[in-house]
Amino acid sequence: MTALDRAWPALLAARDAAAEPTAAPANLRGAGRRLWASYVEFLTRGSSRPVVLAHLGASLDGRIATESGHSTWVTGQADLVHMHRLRALADAVVVGGGTAAADDPQLTVRHVAGRSPVRVVLDPRGTLPDRLRVFRDTPPATLWLRSSQRTAPIGVEVVQLRVEHGQFDPRDVLAALSARGLRRVMIEGGGRTVSAFLAAGLVDLLHYCVAPVVIGSGRPALVLPEIATMNEAIRLRATIIPLGQDRLFVCHLGGDPQVSREAAREGPRARRASTSDPR
Ligand SMILES: NC(=O)c1ccc[n+]([C@@H]2O[C@H](COP(=O)([O-])OP(=O)(O)OC[C@H]3O[C@@H](n4cnc5c(N)ncnc54)[C@H](OP(=O)(O)O)[C@@H]3O)[C@@H](O)[C@H]2O)c1
Repeated sequence: MTALDRAWPALLAARDAAAEPTAAPANLRGAGRRLWASYVEFLTRGSSRPVVLAHLGASLDGRIATESGHSTWVTGQADLVHMHRLRALADAVVVGGGTAAADDPQLTVRHVAGRSPVRVVLDPRGTLPDRLRVFRDTPPATLWLRSSQRTAPIGVEVVQLRVEHGQFDPRDVLAALSARGLRRVMIEGGGRTVSAFLAAGLVDLLHYCVAPVVIGSGRPALVLPEIATMNEAIRLRATIIPLGQDRLFVCHLGGDPQVSREAAREGPRARRASTSDPR
């Protein structure tokens, strides 16, 4: 058991009491201490809308799955445990229709102690079958976001949202979650869903884990509207945390496109401000 495993109940208690977590235990050092800080940031970040943390596990060449949609696993066991910790801290965990169809995920907390968040499935096409595990194995509760009503299994609420060009507006998704008291949201993929929230300026924290694996083709992690010069690229403040052979980039976006633009203007200064410790 690691020092972070021993400290974990204090974070769960802070979550349940909606209180500031206690200071990091003195024996928590290196990667464990920085992971703790990333969890505290997710717990305490304030916003007038739900706070959004997006996680992706990518290859060196920026892919999250093969072309056929196979993605178990891109990153290693330590990132899997990290994702389960994030689920346990979140009020809601969101996936896109492509992920629900390809992975049939459970989206529950199993690798650490903690309660499972409300599961949210985006199904703008309205094509997902109700035999998927998120719809069949309840509790925890599931919100099934669709453009039209339908009967749903017990424990599943169908939420009707407007669809434009085949997609939901990410702001409508957050408004639907906020209306149900879900204030801390984890988006677990896929790439198109995270990209849509990022393009809308609605991601506050991006946890992007890179594994030393090359897929060489397949589903991309992030695809945003085309830019002409590097000045327009989104440069992020990042803390880099080793997770076994993988590297987790904890990126702070502020959920405000202005922050990204300021980081871009700062350029090398912002890059120097990021921390890297290979221990
Ligand atoms: N490595 C990771 O961290 C990670 C995390 C999550 C998922 N994944 C992998 O990423 C892939 C999915 O990501 P993605 O970017 O392609 O999609 P996504 O973000 O999960 O979902 C977005 C879009 O999927 C499309 N879609 C495709 N098939 C669908 C279906 N049967 N029913 C409903 N919608 C469907 C819909 O768009 P259109 O109607 O426009 O086609 C939907 O809006 C999967 O292979 C999954 O295994 C990897």
